[in-house]
Amino acid sequence: MGSEEKNFPPHVLIFPLPIQGHVNSMLRLAELLCLAKLDITFVVSDFSHNRLIKHTNVASRFARYPGFQFQTISDGLPDDHPRAGEKVMDILPSTKNVTGPLFKRMMIENNCFASSTRRPTTCIIADGVLSFAGDFAEENGVPLIYFRTVSACAFWACFSMPELIESGDIPIKGNGMDLLVKGVAGMETFLRRRDLPGFCRVNDMSEPKLQIIKTETRQTTRAQAAILNTFEDLEGPILSQIRKHIPRLFTIGPSHSHLNSRLETQNIKTSISSGSFWEEDRSCVDWLDSQPPRSVLYVSFGSITVVTRAQLLEFWHGLVNSGHRFLWVMRPDSIMGKDGENRVPHELEEGTKERGYMVGWAPQEEVLNHSAIGGFFTHCGWNSTLESIVAGVPMICWPYFADQMINSRFVSEIWKIGLDMKDSCDREIIVKMVRELMEVKKDEFMERADEMAKLARKAVSEGGSSYSNLDALVEYIRSLII
Ligand code: UDX
Repeated sequence: MGSEEKNFPPHVLIFPLPIQGHVNSMLRLAELLCLAKLDITFVVSDFSHNRLIKHTNVASRFARYPGFQFQTISDGLPDDHPRAGEKVMDILPSTKNVTGPLFKRMMIENNCFASSTRRPTTCIIADGVLSFAGDFAEENGVPLIYFRTVSACAFWACFSMPELIESGDIPIKGNGMDLLVKGVAGMETFLRRRDLPGFCRVNDMSEPKLQIIKTETRQTTRAQAAILNTFEDLEGPILSQIRKHIPRLFTIGPSHSHLNSRLETQNIKTSISSGSFWEEDRSCVDWLDSQPPRSVLYVSFGSITVVTRAQLLEFWHGLVNSGHRFLWVMRPDSIMGKDGENRVPHELEEGTKERGYMVGWAPQEEVLNHSAIGGFFTHCGWNSTLESIVAGVPMICWPYFADQMINSRFVSEIWKIGLDMKDSCDREIIVKMVRELMEVKKDEFMERADEMAKLARKAVSEGGSSYSNLDALVEYIRSLII
């Protein structure tokens, strides 16, 4: 090692699963570590990188951190693959089979991205579902930290799969969806089989998606440490369970709010967007500006959900018939079928025009923090859930798949900041739930959501649990330099 290199900061390689909800939360982690003056190599698929460059100012946002660089790699899927709906799961085998070997070659050929201004990779922070990064780390003696982008409750349920199989809770067959689950320690009194992560909804154990999740989750213990995008006051009891298996566990979330808080502390002002795969339509903010306080229901089902025309109609009738105002994100690729399937039904034209506003993609964080927003109709993706919690906005949950199934149970039963509409898609139920959230129990929900928002903000402020954990993570990474 040259004498100069000794003074170089630690160099962290960050590698997310290349889908929206994972890339944006790991980009936030990257920025948090840049603020701590670490060097970062962010490895992302060509596909995701092209989307980020096309639709955001990610390059200008990161230009202020000289230690940050992108490296791109194939995700193994053809460019025209939809990467949405259930087909998004194709990315797990394709990254394993195609990206894995490419990554290994890339690391070896580039001497772990060492250069005249940066040391070779000090440690890898990989998405918890990328076991090939763990293989590389082990084979080459590079320290490894896994980052799980899901909630602690979802992670813990997936981690408990061997116990779930032993207790007979999975595979979930036929009815019995409302039976309480015995195999997840700490959740025996409230978790039903229907609340288990969507991967568990299989008829037999040989289902590839179940097998992948089982092995990828359990292998988190190979890492020297793990990071979760959550906070102690939100998921403390579950975190205690996880710590029995992964003692060095850093909870640093909610990462978006944490990043804002650190930027503020360092007096850095930015309005440059960085993590979206779609272009934000800011006209909805102007529309919100002209709506009364707490009057609008924000409707968005994230980056992967795809609905049928029949489901779309149920949502549309339910929203219009509720009589409330709504701002609805209808992603261009979110409706099954031919172009034009998202046309407004004739009988709903007037109600939609009068009370609704639609966009293809919204600046969600800003929208949720707008004073006109009174509720969030969400698929309960983990980023969306955290963003709603920080903004103090109560939720109606319509989980679509994966971790969302368990997140929605926690929202309704444990945190009591919303309603769970899981496994139904019916206009009457939507009307009832929208009214319950926006009228009947509005004050009650608002009060709870407000309390939770305060706890979230406390966690990421100086002295808070996530703030201290991030400092501890940075110290830990510094200690890895030999
Ligand atoms: C899914 C999961 O459900 C999530 O829990 C998992 O970890 C990753 O895969 P996704 O469906 O994209 O992710 O949902 P979510 O985790 O909520 O992430 C969506 C992100 O896109 C959020 O950060 C949200 O702010 C952003 N978004 C969404 C926008 O910026 N604008 C929009 O219009 C909609």
